[in-house]
Amino acid sequence: MKWKIRQETEGDEVAITQVVARAFEGKSYGDENDAKLVDALRDAGALVLSLVAAHKGQIIGQVALSPAKIGEGRYLCVGPLAVLPEHQRKGVGTGLMGHALGVAQVYGRDGVVLQGDLNYYARFGFETFPSVSYAGEGAQFIQVLPFKGTPSGEVKFHPVFSG
Ligand SMILES: CC(C)(COP(=O)(O)OP(=O)(O)OC[C@H]1O[C@@H](n2cnc3c(N)ncnc32)[C@H](O)[C@@H]1OP(=O)(O)O)[C@@H](O)C(=O)NCCC(=O)NCCS
Repeated sequence: MKWKIRQETEGDEVAITQVVARAFEGKSYGDENDAKLVDALRDAGALVLSLVAAHKGQIIGQVALSPAKIGEGRYLCVGPLAVLPEHQRKGVGTGLMGHALGVAQVYGRDGVVLQGDLNYYARFGFETFPSVSYAGEGAQFIQVLPFKGTPSGEVKFHPVFSG
C-alpha cells in the first residue's frame, strides 16, 4: 500500500476529526473529547505541527504536536496519534511518529512527552521517569523522550487535553 505523509492543509479538518474518532472508538482509554482535540488545539493556536498520512487522496492517519511543560522544562506533547482501524499495523503510525519526532528534534525543546500505551511507545525511545509527576488521571502512562537533560517536575499539557 502506498501512502505519504504531509502537513495538514485547509479542508483536512473534518477528515482528521473522523480519523481520530474512528481510531479511538470503543477504546477503554478513549472518550468523546479525543476527536475534538486537534480542532481545539488549532483553535487555541497551540497546534505546533499537524501531520496526516494520505492514501489515494484519503486521510488514513494523523499526529499532532502541541506545547507542554515538565516542571520549568519546555517540551512538546505528541498526540493524538491515530490511524484508521482498517489501515493499522501497516507501519503508518510508525511513519507518522518518526516524522513528528524529527520535527520535534529541530524545534529546540527539551524533549517530547505523551500519555499512552507503555508497550507501544517504548519502541520510539519513550520512558517513564520517577522524577516526573502528573496530577491528572493515568499518571502511570506518562512517558518522556528527552532530547537533553533528565525531565523533572509536573507535566502540564495544554488545557484542551483536560476537556
Ligand atoms: C496506536 C496506533 C496509532 C498505531 O498505528 P499503526 O499504524 O497501527 O502502527 P504500526 O503499523 O506502525 O505498528 C507498529 C507496531 O506497533 C504495534 N502496534 C500497533 N498498534 C498497537 C497497539 N494498539 N498496541 C500495541 N502495539 C501496537 C504493531 O504490532 C507493530 O509492531 P510490529 O511491526 O512489530 O507488528 C494505531 O493502532 C491507533 O490509531 N490506535 C488507536 C488509537 C490509539 O491508541 N492511539 C495511541 C494512543 S494516544
